[in-house]
Order: sequence, then C-alpha cells, then structure tokens
Amino acid sequence: MKEQLNAIKAQAEAELAKSDALDALEALRIKYLGKKGELTAIMKGMGKLPPEQRPVIGQLANEVRTSIESLLEQKKQTLSSLEKERRLAAEAIDINLPGKRPVLGKKHPLTTVLDDLKDIFIGMGFSIEEGPEVELDYYNFEALNIPKDHPARDTQDTFYIDENVVLRTQTSPVQVRVMEKQKPPIRVIAPGKVFRSDTVDATHSPVFHQIEGLVVDKGITMADLKGTLEVFVKKLYGDDTRLRFRPHHFPFTEPSAEVDISCFGCGGKGCRICKGEGWIEILGCGMVHPKVLKNCDIDPDIYSGFAFGIGLERITMFRYGIDDLRLFFENDIGFLKQF
Ligand code: DAH
Repeated sequence: MKEQLNAIKAQAEAELAKSDALDALEALRIKYLGKKGELTAIMKGMGKLPPEQRPVIGQLANEVRTSIESLLEQKKQTLSSLEKERRLAAEAIDINLPGKRPVLGKKHPLTTVLDDLKDIFIGMGFSIEEGPEVELDYYNFEALNIPKDHPARDTQDTFYIDENVVLRTQTSPVQVRVMEKQKPPIRVIAPGKVFRSDTVDATHSPVFHQIEGLVVDKGITMADLKGTLEVFVKKLYGDDTRLRFRPHHFPFTEPSAEVDISCFGCGGKGCRICKGEGWIEILGCGMVHPKVLKNCDIDPDIYSGFAFGIGLERITMFRYGIDDLRLFFENDIGFLKQF
C-alpha cells in the first residue's frame, strides 16, 4: 500500500506539472481527491490492514493528500495569474495611436454679439429677463398703448394663434410683464425671438431677435437714456462712435426717438454701408408712456422710466460687415466658420 500511495503522489505531481488550464486542474482534483478518487479508494481499504500498519499508512495517506492539495492550490494560483495577464494583454489599449480630433462647434455670430451685449448691460447693473414667444394680444399690443384699431398694428401684423393670442412681434411685452411682477427700481434687458409676417429678403425675416431694455425709478430722465445708450454703443462699436437721436413715434413711449450711430465704415463721410448717409439707425427708444406705467399699477406721478428696443441681426450685420440677413439662418458652415 505504501508503494501504491507513493506512486499516486508521483503520478499526481507529474500530471499537475503538465496541466496548463484551470478546468484541467479541477479534473485532476476530482481524479485524486474526489469521493470516487484514487486516494479516497485507498483510504477506504485501510480497514483490511493489520492494526499495527494502520497508523503508519494512515499518516502517509494524509501526507500524500496534503501534499496534493497544496500542489493543486499553488498551481491554481499560478494559472489564475497567468490567465489574468493574458486577459490584460488582450484588452490593452494602444495609447500610441493618434486620437480622433473631435469637431468643435463655435458660437453663432448672433450669440457672440448677444453675449457681448449682455456683458455690457450687466456691467451697468441690468439683469436679464425673458418672456413668452407665444404672447397674449394684451401684452404685445393693448397694454403697450396699441388698441385693437391702432394703425401701429398694421406695420407689425403678425401670426395670430387666435383673436387673443399672437406670436409676439416685439420684445416690448416683456416690459409689461416685468413691471407687473416687480416694482421700481427696475433695470432689465430682455432678449428674444420675435415674429412678423414679413417676406424673406436680404434685410427681412419672419423670425428675428430683439433686445428690449427698461429702466424705471424715481427721477429717471432722457439724460439717463442718452447716457446709457452712449456707453452701450461705444463699448460695442468703439470709443469714437457718435450718437444721434431723431424724433420718432412709438405708442408706448413719449417722447420717442430713433437712434443712429456714426457709420463705422466711413466715420460719417458717407459710404456703401450707410448708403451715403454717414449715419446708421440701430434702435428705437423713448420715455415710458404714463399710460403704460398705469397699466402696470406704477404711479407715473412718482416714477418715470426709459425703454429701448434693439434689433440683434442689424447690429450683428454692422459689426461683421454682413450684407445679407438670410446668412444667419442658413446654417452654412462655410459662412459660420468665419466668426
Ligand atoms: N418694439 C419696437 C419695435 O419693435 C422697438 C422699440 C421702440 C422698443 C421704442 C422700445 C422703445 O422699448 O422704447 O419696433
């Protein structure tokens, strides 16, 4: 029996040394140590031995068992770490390959100019407000002193959703919404999309953008309006830009004006950009009409204010010398890449 045990040990050692996979290792464990394994068979036969031999053989059998167990364990660890290395090698990323350069987008010129404009006004203590693009007739017209039969509606005739709901034709309704929920002092700008039933050409689009401005407080005068716009225009177009106020009419301001700036193309001499005028119109403005203040429960005997509305496309076209408004909306990468 002794020889048998030693033979089993030698055979197990040889087979273990040869095995090179974890599942083959498990098969060997079953072959030698399993319930029906070779070693188990011998141990079961020990009862037939003469009593004085039993402890000797028993001890040897245990030694053989322990030795096979520890060999199995060692081999198992070697094979697992080999397998792990193999897997890591197979999964490795070759960091020497050049990466794929992502295509980076950039800001649309309208966004760039709007961001600059926001910075300028935030610097002067304004905050930014928004209003709905689908607006009540009341806010877009009525509360701004443009009743149903007012001729000013003709120039801004718009897309009606129903009798009382329109796509806003201007950002001025945000003035009313702000004054309804916030009492003076008020200092806001409100940028956004506006809509008019215009036919598309080089200077018209049924969708465009405006920036509304509103300041209401005690003792606000036209001087504040002029000073504010002067700072804005000089920051946007340069320090030598001059400003000109021309009397105009808007139903929601009194008095009202249109503001021209000296042409940055020719400095005022007259050129192609300003069509020989030397001046370029960039916005409408005025002192908030007392009726509009009253519509918002603000007492015009105590408070006064000014408002202005700027066309974003127009000021962006002048800034970059773009001569066709349609280019903003065509999404032509070749065009957009230039800014
Ligand atoms: N909402 C006017 C328009 O679309 C522009 C405008 C003019 C806005 C005068 C104002 C203002 O706030 O005071 O033509």
